[in-house]
Amino acid sequence: MLNLIRKVEVDNFIDSRGNLDVVEISNELNFYVKRMYYISNVPNEESRGGHAHKNLQQIFFAVAGSFTINVFDGESTYPILIEAHKCGYYLTNGLWRELTNFSPNAVCLVLASQHYNSDDYIFDIDEYTRWKKEQ
Ligand code: TYD
Repeated sequence: MLNLIRKVEVDNFIDSRGNLDVVEISNELNFYVKRMYYISNVPNEESRGGHAHKNLQQIFFAVAGSFTINVFDGESTYPILIEAHKCGYYLTNGLWRELTNFSPNAVCLVLASQHYNSDDYIFDIDEYTRWKKEQ
């Protein structure tokens, strides 16, 4: 699992003028950003995601607040708490994910390795499990 999900360090520079958080994306990830989006105003009882990506790699951060990503690799589920000013998480392609437990002020920032492509999605978890076994 370690190679499929990796921590992405966030450096914090805090002074009387406010907070600055900085991320340098390691060359080891071989990750180039083609798209970014952010998710906000998610009611606590709602979830986002609920799909897998065949080819897309992503890095998730909490710009504010917190939320949980439940990552499923076809066998096990890994709940990952993502909090503002703490590390982000890189998810490789081929993983199912559901984002839950958004705090009231949470803003989820996602860096994506590819442009939006609806053909890259798997929306049915049984189909995902079958697809994963074939890989
Ligand atoms: P959706 O996949 O439901 O969001 P999430 O994964 O956060 O639950 O996306 C909602 C709508 O936004 C859907 O109509 C597709 C569209 N969308 C884009 O057009 N471009 C994008 O980069 C993303 C992530 C979604």
